[in-house]
Amino acid sequence: MGRIRLDKFLADMSLGTRSEVKKEIKKGSVQVNGMTVKNPEYKIDTGKDLVSVKGRQVSYAQMEYYMLNKPAGVVSATEDKRDKTVVDLITEKKRKDLFPVGRLDKDTEGLLLITNDGALAHELLSPRKHVDKTYFVKIKDPVSSEDVKRLENGVDIGEEKQTLPAKISRISQEGTSLCLTIREGRFHQIKRMFQAVDNEVLYLKRLSMGPLDLDENLAPGEYRTLTEEEMKRLKEHAGK
Ligand code: URA
Repeated sequence: MGRIRLDKFLADMSLGTRSEVKKEIKKGSVQVNGMTVKNPEYKIDTGKDLVSVKGRQVSYAQMEYYMLNKPAGVVSATEDKRDKTVVDLITEKKRKDLFPVGRLDKDTEGLLLITNDGALAHELLSPRKHVDKTYFVKIKDPVSSEDVKRLENGVDIGEEKQTLPAKISRISQEGTSLCLTIREGRFHQIKRMFQAVDNEVLYLKRLSMGPLDLDENLAPGEYRTLTEEEMKRLKEHAGK
């Protein structure tokens, strides 16, 4: 990790705006390795130096990665005038620059990665990469075997190109719930795919995205940081 200015270090960790933290530094509230530092431009080695404000240590997080089980009713955005956003749900975040990797509709639940790692997000979202996304879907009418074939081969959802081949599994006995894996992320894609076969999605939940599986212990609205193993798998995946 590199060296950054003391005022940026504190602002990045949400201790205030750049000018607010500058004032605190000049007042003498900030210590580096136990010594008061009053110069906002003082360079911090984020891997080594211990920074504290009014006696409380502030650790630096360059990148943060959270797995959220998105509940229905919140929007996949960073800010919204009317609705609660998925980023608002991450109450323990340190960074202010977190965003969701991709979008789920307001009424969709399930796996959402929230991070400030733009490069990783780009790799996961790039249409070239065809990252698999698996959803649990409940539908209004039982799905027929012809519908399954059509959905798997690709359907016309009113765009220039048909949907790419998809995979359907775990169809329930009544035929009204199933798992669907798609490799694209077009707007309302799954709802439009079922509309294309004269059906209707009643409930949608994302179960996995590339190498990441939703942790079943997370209730809707709950989140946790990614494990080392999940980080490793994600990075390997992104490096492909
Ligand atoms: N497809 C949809 O229609 N909605 C989602 O939220 C995700 C995939």
